[in-house]
Amino acid sequence: MNRIVFITGATSGFGRACAWRFAEAGWSLVLTGRREERLTELQAQLKDKVPVHTAVLDVRDSQAVKQVVGALPEAFRDVTCLVNNAGLALAPQPAQAVDLDDWQTMIDTNVSGLVNVTHALLPTLIGQGAGASIINLGSVAADTPYPGNHVYGATKAFVRQFSYNLRCDLLGTGVRVTDIAPGLAETEFTLVRTGGDRATHDKLYGSTTPLTAEDIAEQIFHVATLPAHVNINRLEVMPVRQAWGGFAIDRD
Ligand SMILES: NC(=O)c1ccc[n+]([C@@H]2O[C@H](COP(=O)([O-])OP(=O)(O)OC[C@H]3O[C@@H](n4cnc5c(N)ncnc54)[C@H](OP(=O)(O)O)[C@@H]3O)[C@@H](O)[C@H]2O)c1
Repeated sequence: MNRIVFITGATSGFGRACAWRFAEAGWSLVLTGRREERLTELQAQLKDKVPVHTAVLDVRDSQAVKQVVGALPEAFRDVTCLVNNAGLALAPQPAQAVDLDDWQTMIDTNVSGLVNVTHALLPTLIGQGAGASIINLGSVAADTPYPGNHVYGATKAFVRQFSYNLRCDLLGTGVRVTDIAPGLAETEFTLVRTGGDRATHDKLYGSTTPLTAEDIAEQIFHVATLPAHVNINRLEVMPVRQAWGGFAIDRD
């Protein structure tokens, strides 16, 4: 079987760590994201190890997604693993204080973007058959309500249910689908969420031991390389030093 991985959001965090992890094992890489200079830098770092193809891509643009997938060079066409990683949270303030554009951006990226890429690559993945996989980045935020989670958590609940539903339709094709649901992990996620607030980033990840991007990349690689008859439906991963906090109650 070919070993070609297509990663969305490869310019940072889990996506970039996945590029390194799959490269270490000799996979060919298709790396996508919006920040071209980061893609170029990553390609320069990895191209002596494995074949690397990069494409600037905003997953919200369904036509651009189709174009990038349709224009994959021959050596990268037979994608065997899709890591649907591109995503973001915005607007950590209460729902009633959020700008509607921020909600829309999360839906466009985490829901429509993930669907766009999945739809474009499904025929290829089905063509590969047994051993192919779609690995979607969900979140513990899909299941655990918390203040400021509003639309972000709801988009990740979509990812979970879409992953399960895809499994039903792909039964018999050999294509596997997994929803990976990380907890607290130190990446650029909180800087994006807070509009670049370094103090909030440092406070959230400081004085504890969050997951690293490499921890999650290792799980993604593990899921992608399991025997072809094994499907992990959902994998929830938290740091040992994170747990749930219980209910909040409004009192007089
Ligand atoms: N860190 C956590 O605690 C955590 C926990 C659970 C789930 N997650 C999920 O894990 C995934 C990766 O997040 P991360 O923690 O690695 O955050 P990150 O460091 O901010 O990386 C996010 C990646 O998504 C890409 N991206 C964002 N919008 C995009 C768009 N419209 N089109 C294409 N690419 C886009 C970014 O690339 P460009 O800006 O270059 O486009 C970047 O490479 C996300 O889906 C996130 O929701 C994160």
